[in-house]
Order: sequence, then structure tokens, then C-alpha cells
Amino acid sequence: MDAISDYVRVCETAVRAGGRVLLEKIGRVEVREKSPSDLVTEADLASQEVVRRTILTAFPDHSVIGEEDQPDGAGAEGEVKPTEYRWFVDPLDGTTNYVHQVPHFCVSLALERLGELLVGTVYDPVAEECFSAAAGQGALLNGKWIRTSDVSRLSQTLAAVGLPSAVRPDSPDLRLFLAALTRCQALRRTGSAALNLCYVAAGRFDAFWSYSTKSWDVAAGVLLIREAGGVVTAPDGGPFVLEKGHFLAAANGQLHAELRALVAEAGLA
Ligand code: IPD
Ligand code: CA
Ligand code: CA
Repeated sequence: MDAISDYVRVCETAVRAGGRVLLEKIGRVEVREKSPSDLVTEADLASQEVVRRTILTAFPDHSVIGEEDQPDGAGAEGEVKPTEYRWFVDPLDGTTNYVHQVPHFCVSLALERLGELLVGTVYDPVAEECFSAAAGQGALLNGKWIRTSDVSRLSQTLAAVGLPSAVRPDSPDLRLFLAALTRCQALRRTGSAALNLCYVAAGRFDAFWSYSTKSWDVAAGVLLIREAGGVVTAPDGGPFVLEKGHFLAAANGQLHAELRALVAEAGLA
């Protein structure tokens, strides 16, 4: 068996390689719509390829599940074989920002084994920020320890919000957004779910939730928040399920309880 430190090293190497690809290609990519308002570029595909190659070269008996696989969970050359160790990669989180040359996007990569998140790294190549965590070993930003904030009241909370690419008037994300708008100090929709999670881990944001994210958006960020002292559950307060990708994340247990009450007020629990 490989050591956790090997996974962390290769994970960081892979996201930095993906980030380099994104910087090389920004401003000169063709854009395609996967579905209305859901964009993909050749940079998403090239970044995923370099991340996949880096992981499988180091760990040939692992599998890589990437957002740009077709269909979900299938590899470029067919179905991904079920393996004990699975890597979840979002090769470009924040594609809409990227397409418009808004400098807020990242590569997100995490390793899971039998339902447990072991390692997670998110790299923002513009800010040159590398967020990294290993189970039971804490969370780091560019090698320095990070902690979630001690904000415990919604009225003092700067919360990140995410909305699906095509927002329906009855979508739960929109309902909770409207409920939170008058209860939190302020809300931010940044366009990168993975970076939102990292910002909660680093104490910049105090909370974040989403009913529309997928496993590759959140796998690394969820581990980062937990290792930085925060609380992540499913939106109904039950255990977070990676395959569903939906969550309620807060800097601490007290704020998480306030958030759950807000979910109930919004008629979502
Ligand atoms: C999206 C972003 C966005 C979130 C969406 C994601 P993409 O990922 O993280 O912030 O609200 O749910 O799909 O398409 O940029 O990788
Ligand atoms: Ca994403
Ligand atoms: Ca993506």
C-alpha cells in the first residue's frame, strides 16, 4: 500500500499540471454548450487528461472519475473498472468564469477509498493558491495551516451560494438563496463551488450550501472544511453522501444548526 504522503504529493502535482494547462489556454479556446448555459471548453478536456495521466502513471490500479467523462463515471475508453481507490476530478471548476476570462477558477481533485475521503487538493492557478488536506492531518493553504472562522450567527455570516447552470424558479438552491438573503450579513455567487468550499475552510467565507453540485465539484472541498474544523452534512442534516454531491457546510456546529433552521424555514426540510 502507498503512504498518504504519496497520495498528497501526486494529488498536488496533478492539480498544478491541470492548472498550467488552464493558464496556457485561457482566452484561446473553443466553447461548447453541454446543455443550456452549461459550458465546456477544450481546456476542461486537456486539464482532465493531464490529471488522469498523472494519477494513473503513479497509481495504475486506481480509477479516475472526471466531470468530462462520457457518460458520468465512464472513462474515455469505456466503463471505469470498480477499484478500491477512486479519484474524483473537476479539471476546471468555474468554466463560465474561465470562458469570460474572470480570474476565478480551479482544478479540484480528491481520493476516496471505500466511502472515505483520504486526500483532497484544490489549485487556483491565477492566485497560485494550493489548498490541501489529508484525513486526520489538517488542512493547508500553500503549506500553512488553515482553520474555519468562529462566526456562529447567520447575521454575521458571509455565505457563498451556488445556483445550477439553468435555474428553475422552484429550484431548492434558489429558495434557500432567497431565504438567506435577508438573514445573512452578505451572500456571494462566485461561480466556483470548489473554491467556495476552500474559502470556508480558510475562514474567508463562513458557510456554503448546494443542491446542484456533483461529486467532483465537492469531494476535495468537503475534506478541506472538515480538516479545517468545519461541519459538512447533507442538506437535511444527515450524513454527506459523495455520490449525491449535495451539502450544507458551515464553519462550526453552532452556525450549522442556524443554517439547518433556515433550511426548515425555507420549507426544504
Ligand atoms: C459549476 C460551478 C458553479 C456551481 C455549479 C457547478 P463547472 O461547475 O462550480 O459554481 O454553482 O453547480 O456545476 O461547470 O464550472 O465545473
Ligand atoms: Ca464544477
Ligand atoms: Ca468543471
